[in-house]
Amino acid sequence: MTLKFDLQPSPAPRSDAEREAVLADPGFGVNFTDHMAVATWTAADGWADSAVVPYGPFQLDPASAVLHYAQEIFEGMKAYRHADGSVWLFRPEKNAERFAVSARRLALPELPVESFVEAVEALVEADQAWVPAGGEASLYLRPFMFASEVFLGVRGARKVQFCVIASPAGSYFSGGVQPVQIWMSRDYTRAAPGGTGAAKCGGNYAASLVAQAEAAEHGCSQVLFTDAVERKWVDELGGMNVYFVTADDQLVTPALGTILEGVTRDAILALAPELGLTPVERRVSLEEVLEGCRTGAITEIFACGTAAVITPIGALKGLDGTTAVADGEPGPRTLELRQALLDIQYGRREDTHGWMHRVI
Ligand code: COI
Repeated sequence: MTLKFDLQPSPAPRSDAEREAVLADPGFGVNFTDHMAVATWTAADGWADSAVVPYGPFQLDPASAVLHYAQEIFEGMKAYRHADGSVWLFRPEKNAERFAVSARRLALPELPVESFVEAVEALVEADQAWVPAGGEASLYLRPFMFASEVFLGVRGARKVQFCVIASPAGSYFSGGVQPVQIWMSRDYTRAAPGGTGAAKCGGNYAASLVAQAEAAEHGCSQVLFTDAVERKWVDELGGMNVYFVTADDQLVTPALGTILEGVTRDAILALAPELGLTPVERRVSLEEVLEGCRTGAITEIFACGTAAVITPIGALKGLDGTTAVADGEPGPRTLELRQALLDIQYGRREDTHGWMHRVI
């Protein structure tokens, strides 16, 4: 049975002027809307108490399991306003399915796909005035679930909180579509075979932070991880997938396994042939990448994710020096793919894949 998320309106929503001030310069992940969607799960009764309620803090007992063992998962997706004022989601069922995969890996209960989509839709509907218009701004949606049971034993929690919050968003990287520099981590890895690399759980991101800080110290905005076994194969970046464009028009990305199955990654694989590129999922060694940049066999590299969209990578930095990607400028294929994806999301290009899902 699909959960219903009826609205309990906030008694103190932000004024139009306050909201407009936020929408004029939303940043990323710093401002939140007036409501949130919630539901709870218990082993005894399953899912219950679903509603859209006023945005506000949770009261957490200090012994809540998530605070100790990080039994938590999340998703990232966006609502886009089209020129006619309508509001759309991009492949929400993909996020819902991945949320269920993450839940299984973290021993959390699965939220049925329809209920996940219902929760997101209900929140977007309640806070539709917060969906920015124009430019590349959107309403970033963050569904998440955590172990709220008050218990210090190590086992799957018998009480769980689900929630969706929404945050008006501009570019994830402050430079917008400017190429970013990537730090090649030598000391840290993000995921091992059999681990949680393919799940979207907070712990993966916590484990990336020290490497991410090292990247920042070297003037880089993301860290690139290699595999945990041979320290040889490209895995993914701190919070996004990575793609390589070759001189013979292949679009290469690391195969699934220990990486996150990105919704943007998947859309790019489908769009590639429409732009004359051959999509290839395979193992890619860091050595091949660096050599390819030097010889010109690799002409472009970009990062992709819901938050990052498609962001060009201008250089790879490591302890042994810096390797430029072509001339360091955004490449034509990167920009074409980026435009094609954004045009579909904002309703300017025909949605031949049936990816867009109208909410309003
Ligand atoms: C996203 O692209 O939505 C992400 O989850 C990446 C990051 C902001 C955690």
